[in-house]
Amino acid sequence: MNIIEIIDKKRRGLTHTEKEINALVSMMEAGKAHDYQIAAWLMASCISGLDLDETTWLTQAFVNSGKVLDLSHVDGIVVDKHSTGGVGDKTTLALIPLLAASGVKVAKLSGRGLGITGGTIDKLESIPGFNVSLSAQNFVKQIKQIGMAISSQSGDLAPADGKMYALRDVTATVESIPLIAASVISKKVAAGADVIVLDIKYGRGAFMATLEDAKLLASTCREVGKRLNKSISTVISAMNQPLGCAVGNSLEVLEIVKLLKGEGPADLEALTLKLGAVALVCAGAQPDVETAEGALKAHLQDGSALEKFRELVIAQGGDPYFLKDASLLPQPDRVLMIPAKEQAYVADINALEVAKAAKMVGAGRLTKDCPINLGVGVLLHKHIGDPVKPGETLVELYADDNDHRDAVEVLSKAFSFSPEPVSPQPLVDEVILGKILAKRPVVAKG
Ligand code: URA
Repeated sequence: MNIIEIIDKKRRGLTHTEKEINALVSMMEAGKAHDYQIAAWLMASCISGLDLDETTWLTQAFVNSGKVLDLSHVDGIVVDKHSTGGVGDKTTLALIPLLAASGVKVAKLSGRGLGITGGTIDKLESIPGFNVSLSAQNFVKQIKQIGMAISSQSGDLAPADGKMYALRDVTATVESIPLIAASVISKKVAAGADVIVLDIKYGRGAFMATLEDAKLLASTCREVGKRLNKSISTVISAMNQPLGCAVGNSLEVLEIVKLLKGEGPADLEALTLKLGAVALVCAGAQPDVETAEGALKAHLQDGSALEKFRELVIAQGGDPYFLKDASLLPQPDRVLMIPAKEQAYVADINALEVAKAAKMVGAGRLTKDCPINLGVGVLLHKHIGDPVKPGETLVELYADDNDHRDAVEVLSKAFSFSPEPVSPQPLVDEVILGKILAKRPVVAKG
């Protein structure tokens, strides 16, 4: 079987066999298929689609192309959470200590941001000394010791996905539900956790534009997970206005500290509790989502989640003193306030435009190697539905001392107003639980 036959088959809208999918991935890995041939197959797949069998085989082939993290010696169920990405989405940072405070183990491999704002790893780098590059051995050791660890994802997990993703990025073939599902699930399977919770965003600031597409991606991910014997749950959440108030790296870390003290923005707390509750139920630690949300909320209120966050910071070499003195985090040179002009209700805050403004001041990167300014970003004072009076602060732009009139203009235009009260849309649209696991036996070492 040669690569041209494989491309031709997909171009004609036919269905691949498992052997063909494996051949495609191994030819790409071995350099026997050229980039332009893989790109041609990607375009044919985008147009003709891949069914669930093909998507599962592609996922498995990505997993097989690299290492799989061995968490079998960790006692109990290990959970992992992934978001398809949104503006101001910092729930991962809160969930790691919150779930660990609830007694389940958390193994989180994360990426840097490209496109909108920083990723979880960039956010953590704003904490002085925090080590975001743990070896696989130290990652597992830390989970055993304190129940949680976070590290940047190394290139040896699902490397074939990395290669294919790089080609998708430059050939307008990112937006394919089966290709996104295979890409996301392969990395999660390779990262080794038992329970995986996916937060699938839809709306202006998200990969999926519509709820319908988000539901299709969610069901594809769950089905592929089932076929690969993983418990995959999906939560679908709206991403039209930013999540919480902070967009930008150290600003988001500070918002997480507030959340862990039980003082976070309501929308951020609600989504964090929902995602955490789904993880606890699937890990067999709580009987149902509602009870689990109550248990998690108690950890925010009694200080145990914040204490666990301090433990995480110390374990990974960070200076926990920023929890008392926020000025230890990277700071902006100045803060520009944008006021409301009239008495009204906030009708809309365009997440994409907010992200654009944050990126213009340096909170996000343009290319993979671009440095980012960890101290800058956007801090919302209002959300959709809030009443505003003339002169009241709508939003602040944390910036360096360059001229940022263009970013201020973009940020101002992100808001629209109504003279009548406005009801924000629901944040969570759908929650579907994966398999509920019982305690996993520990594999004896040796
Ligand atoms: N995130 C991924 O990891 N892969 C995709 O294809 C899209 C988003």
